[in-house]
Amino acid sequence: MSLRRSFATLTKGLRPTIRQLLSQSSQASPTTPIQVNGWVKSVRRQKRVAFAVITDGSSPLGLQAVFLDPALARSLTNGAAVRLTGMLANSIGAGQAKELQVHTVDIVGECNPEILTTILSMQTYPIQKKALTTEYLRDHCHLRTRTDEGASVVRLRHDTLNALHSYFQAQGFCYAHTPLVTSSDCEGAGETFRIGTLLSSQSSGDKEADKQPPEFFGRPAYLTVSAQLHLEALSASISRVFTISPCFRAERSQTGRHLAEFWMLEAEWAFTESVDDLCQVAEDAIKSTLRQPSADLAALQTGMDPSRAKILQDAARPDRWPRITYTEAIIELEKVQASRRLFEFPVGWGRTLQSEHERWVAEHLVGGPVFVTDYPTQLKPFYMRQNVEGDTVACFDLLVPHLGELIGGSLREEREDKLLQAIEHHGLNLEDYKWYVDLRKYGGAPHGGFGLGFERLISWLSGIENIRECIPMPRWAGRMLL
Ligand code: 4AD
Repeated sequence: MSLRRSFATLTKGLRPTIRQLLSQSSQASPTTPIQVNGWVKSVRRQKRVAFAVITDGSSPLGLQAVFLDPALARSLTNGAAVRLTGMLANSIGAGQAKELQVHTVDIVGECNPEILTTILSMQTYPIQKKALTTEYLRDHCHLRTRTDEGASVVRLRHDTLNALHSYFQAQGFCYAHTPLVTSSDCEGAGETFRIGTLLSSQSSGDKEADKQPPEFFGRPAYLTVSAQLHLEALSASISRVFTISPCFRAERSQTGRHLAEFWMLEAEWAFTESVDDLCQVAEDAIKSTLRQPSADLAALQTGMDPSRAKILQDAARPDRWPRITYTEAIIELEKVQASRRLFEFPVGWGRTLQSEHERWVAEHLVGGPVFVTDYPTQLKPFYMRQNVEGDTVACFDLLVPHLGELIGGSLREEREDKLLQAIEHHGLNLEDYKWYVDLRKYGGAPHGGFGLGFERLISWLSGIENIRECIPMPRWAGRMLL
């Protein structure tokens, strides 16, 4: 019986991934052939032996394949999809614990280093084994996860999400789904994408009316900017809920912290009356991600500036992260502005904290993550709970070094009369928020929650500067390649 046939009779269903093969629990058995599927990362040919590194994307480590007959490796090229059959053995070479001693090679998807295009020019495989610029990889984002960093980011997102899921589940939160199509702009910032159909599916016979198809949902519809309002409805019966959802914001911002489509983790819970409690949950959730064991995080952090790495290590410690009020932050910012004129944007009570101010507070005033609480009412959305003294709301932003705002959260206005005043004050149409006000009428408990920008978290953990590199297929104003 050929080796390939004997292998086929031995395995059913999914074969182990390279990560599983390399994990300590799976023992190499030098007598049983195994099959490995993956892509060629690199090939090294010598006179009597050839080596290749094979990756299937399951781990930052590839599997070393050894070809005792170098002719077997003759047609291997970087990027080719291969199926290798052989024996997994303990490696005698340095750098890896196990290796695959290859008996047969199937090339299931060729990857020619150079292709003659239809217009007769030569096109080289875009992911060459050399340093590729960030901009070049953005232009080739359909191939970007073939680089080590691109693949690590996707796996880090997975690991980080797992850590967050585990944290919230352990705290008794229920993972819930909220709609992407909504009728309201939760943040009231006018940054919503409006959606509609291209043409009405049935002609009404009226040419003018057909040019303007009726609203599909019978009213204007938008892509969600935040799941919060819907989560609030769920928390009024399920008590503790969280979700991770895409959010869409039509901000024209070209900074490294803004995307038009990003993912947000949002948590909302009933029977909470203190901003400090909200901060504690946010802090513990982030700490769970800082403490997660992740080979990809370690790989991405290689070469990170030591002072930055130390901030992350310190942040993972049990000590509580500091909390200061907006007013206290402004006093400190005003002092430094008066003496050193550090900032481009003016500082003063009632003004927005710009990114440069947020970073100064986290990097210089505190030297780590810091919760800034109780912002002026006029700076924040309608749903935040009014503080007793009247000109601030019960809210927080979590600011972290090198990034600025990572989380925004608040207690929600649960008092019907105050909520109605806020809706009016913000010039919102009460009709759109009737259901939201209803929640206050029927057993509306004090409640609150927060939203964590997932790409910003990945950027902060990994040290990747721009969040466009923290999501596989980024979209921002003026750019959507695929
Ligand atoms: O501060 P924001 O606007 O808060 C809300 O949307 C609340 N409704 C959340 C809640 O309480 N449930 O956004 C929350 C976080 C920000 O701190 C930031 O990390 C991220 O979402 N974020 C963005 N991330 C990437 N691109 C953008 N354009 C972002 N806008 C906000």
